[in-house]
Amino acid sequence: MLEKPLCASIECKNKAHLQCPTCVKLGKNGESFFCSQDCFKKSWGSHKAVHGDTKSPYDPFKTFKYAGPLRAVYPLSPRRTVPEEISRPDYAESGISRSELMSRGSDIKVLTPEEIEGAKKACAITREVLELAAKSIRVGMTTDELDRIVHEATIERGAYPSPLNYNYFPKSCCTSLNEVICHGIPDQRPLADGDILNIDISCFYQGFHGDTNGTYLVGNVDEAGQKLVNVTRECLEKAIAAVKPGMRYRDFGKIIEDHATKNGFSVVRAFVGHGIHQLFHCAPNVPHYANNKAIGVCKPGHIFTIEPMICEGVHQELMWPDGWTATTKDGKRSAQFEHTLLVTETGVEILT
Ligand code: MF3
Ligand code: CO
Ligand code: CO
Repeated sequence: MLEKPLCASIECKNKAHLQCPTCVKLGKNGESFFCSQDCFKKSWGSHKAVHGDTKSPYDPFKTFKYAGPLRAVYPLSPRRTVPEEISRPDYAESGISRSELMSRGSDIKVLTPEEIEGAKKACAITREVLELAAKSIRVGMTTDELDRIVHEATIERGAYPSPLNYNYFPKSCCTSLNEVICHGIPDQRPLADGDILNIDISCFYQGFHGDTNGTYLVGNVDEAGQKLVNVTRECLEKAIAAVKPGMRYRDFGKIIEDHATKNGFSVVRAFVGHGIHQLFHCAPNVPHYANNKAIGVCKPGHIFTIEPMICEGVHQELMWPDGWTATTKDGKRSAQFEHTLLVTETGVEILT
């Protein structure tokens, strides 16, 4: 005897009598039965993904009060795979980096010359992948297509895309459009003429991470948007120019904030630059705003990022229900640039 299936609605254990008509049409039987119209309706938002119907993209956060015009466009594509022979960071399977947790509270690492060589290789790959991604930007392509390009370019070079499953992040890079400050998830949203798009690439190669990002103009961007992008790039350049042994990590913020505010922009406070080497994120913390209390002084052999996020309006953020995408609270645009930097005896070397 065939047992009646159970309702596919979460937390409902009733016997199911109804089947989703779309599933019937598509011949999909898994997860397609419901006990009632009510459960069917309640589950629709997530159930729809079962259809795998990329021709009818939908907003998974329909009732969320978005700050600006951008919407999430689901379903996300299936998780991409990394060949067995590529060495992975410790969170690749578990989602949680034990080594990063263990390192909390540790001093800033001074890398040996051999370690510096390792970090340089990872950073060179990271830069190559960012440039390749940037060159493939086209109006009408989706950010998920960009993610596929990034993923394939990364594994072709024998590297693991650091974002993939880092704290359960679902994709291989971050794509942050317009009002998204950072950590946008590549999805089915097609790029539109006039968008500004940040692509943030991180690669793990033979034990070391590299991290770099840039904001790119999609088609014709208005002058205000171009100015935002240019000033943000200048903020990073000015901060990098100040890197040398003896410089305090707390002092980069003033350089960045002075240049941003002089141009009528604000500086994001919730996300900071970070140490990076065998760990993706570690000491030091590098705030991009003035009057911060960051600990530590630049020493030869330190590797860290500076990655200012600069906004047209307010600096405060609003998190989407996906737990990752951070937009500005007022829905106005934000731009970002990032490099991984090595402190040398005499100054700085940009590794990305
Ligand atoms: N690349 C980002 C940074 O600059 C981190 C992304 S973490 C992810 O620090 F999980 F969102 F990918
Ligand atoms: Co970073
Ligand atoms: Co980054």
